[in-house]
Amino acid sequence: MSDFQTVAKVGDIPEGQGRSFPLNGTMVGVFLTDGRYLAINDFCPHMGASLADGHVENDAVMCPWHAWRFSLQDGSWLDNSRSGIRTACYEVRVEGDAIQVRMSPPPTAQTPPDSNPTATPSCQNPSPNAG
Ligand code: FES
Repeated sequence: MSDFQTVAKVGDIPEGQGRSFPLNGTMVGVFLTDGRYLAINDFCPHMGASLADGHVENDAVMCPWHAWRFSLQDGSWLDNSRSGIRTACYEVRVEGDAIQVRMSPPPTAQTPPDSNPTATPSCQNPSPNAG
């Protein structure tokens, strides 16, 4: 599946916070930071906390259980970027007042450490997308 799917409306996610939404059998955390919507897999790779409940700061979210920090830009684990641990990230767009997420390509969770470190995550979207 490659199409964007609506998960919420503009205004459902307060600035500087996240919310989790079910999408294709996965919980997706969608965050609004500096006027941009960003989405990652809501399941913390450590022990499964909801990342959408974490503190958001500088395009990162801190897991509410053990304070691991993940990039909202690419899902990488910011506390040890060489570990290869990451959660999947997804493209987000706003169409009218609908916040939409695209699930494909497949999640990049638990990428092996020796995988291509220069690959550009599919979720990066440098243009503002908040409505
Ligand atoms: S469950 Fe997220 S850091 Fe432990």
